[in-house]
Amino acid sequence: MAQNGVENEIKASALELIGNTPIVALDRLWPGPGRILAKCEFMNPGASIKCRSSLHMIEKARENGDLKPGAPVLEVTSGNQGCGLAVVCAVLGHPLTLTMSKGNSVQRAIHMEALGAKCVRVPQVEGSYGNVTLADVKAAEAEGLRLVEQTGAYYVNQFNNTMNSDSHYCTTGPEIWRQTGQHVDAFIATVGTAGTFAGTSKYLKEKNSNIKCFVVEPAGSEPIKGCPITKPLHVLQGSGYGCVPYLFNFENMYETISITDDETKHFMKLIGEKEGLYVGYTSGANVAAAVKLLESGKLPKDAWVVTLLNDSGLKYTPVPAELT
Ligand SMILES: Cc1ncc(COP(=O)(O)O)c(C=O)c1O
Repeated sequence: MAQNGVENEIKASALELIGNTPIVALDRLWPGPGRILAKCEFMNPGASIKCRSSLHMIEKARENGDLKPGAPVLEVTSGNQGCGLAVVCAVLGHPLTLTMSKGNSVQRAIHMEALGAKCVRVPQVEGSYGNVTLADVKAAEAEGLRLVEQTGAYYVNQFNNTMNSDSHYCTTGPEIWRQTGQHVDAFIATVGTAGTFAGTSKYLKEKNSNIKCFVVEPAGSEPIKGCPITKPLHVLQGSGYGCVPYLFNFENMYETISITDDETKHFMKLIGEKEGLYVGYTSGANVAAAVKLLESGKLPKDAWVVTLLNDSGLKYTPVPAELT
């Protein structure tokens, strides 16, 4: 009950900490002309943007009766979806199992297990630790499907679940529109399942069809650009799987921007040193792409470019060799 109005200040659970992330101007890294504005997705309780889709997919499954109260949940993850689901399932009381390639950072498995989930780390078939390929994801998926068959758990299926992109249509897009005072010239995102890009670009294009939406692809693994894969290994864990995902929507994309591993690492470092924000690889790639775009002359000089700081750099801090 309300006591001196404090109930307004108290969040009912961690679920209310998801979304409504601040947007920050990277004015020290890019003093202009134009501006880079970045959504602080690492501030979600699972420390990544995937908390948004985790909450929405689970809520919708409970609403439509596919997921019964207390029933077990299973998902295949590169880690961040698993951390987001672990937050949601802990609060709502669903036992959670995740399968994840051993190539994804072990910090994510530690994080999920700290929230009561079980993480099955699946050996890699192609990549190496820190570099996860489509074949590695498929191996994690095969193990996940085997466990679904065995246990009857509810399978979230982020790559084919339209509530994944819908979460960004309902939250990320409207937040950007509101927080920029409806001033957006371009939006930039990396693509894993494509949930983020598809939902956010759909919302923004509906608001203003002149907004240009760009996809970031790792150099040499650019299927959305239409190129053959020449370099399947790259550092953008959680994105750039070398295929066009089911949820992807070409009609809202203006162009792709190619970013190398060196550019990604350079901008991760700059975001830390100049902006005081310790972020992960896809955040570095997003900001590298924003700078490339502002330098390209493809936008008006005073353009506002909006992008995402997808997760925390703490998810990638080096760990002892025996765990990798
Ligand atoms: C760090 C990181 N960046 C970007 C993405 C891509 O997001 P989406 O699956 O919405 O395309 C993911 C997805 O897991 C991720 O973990």
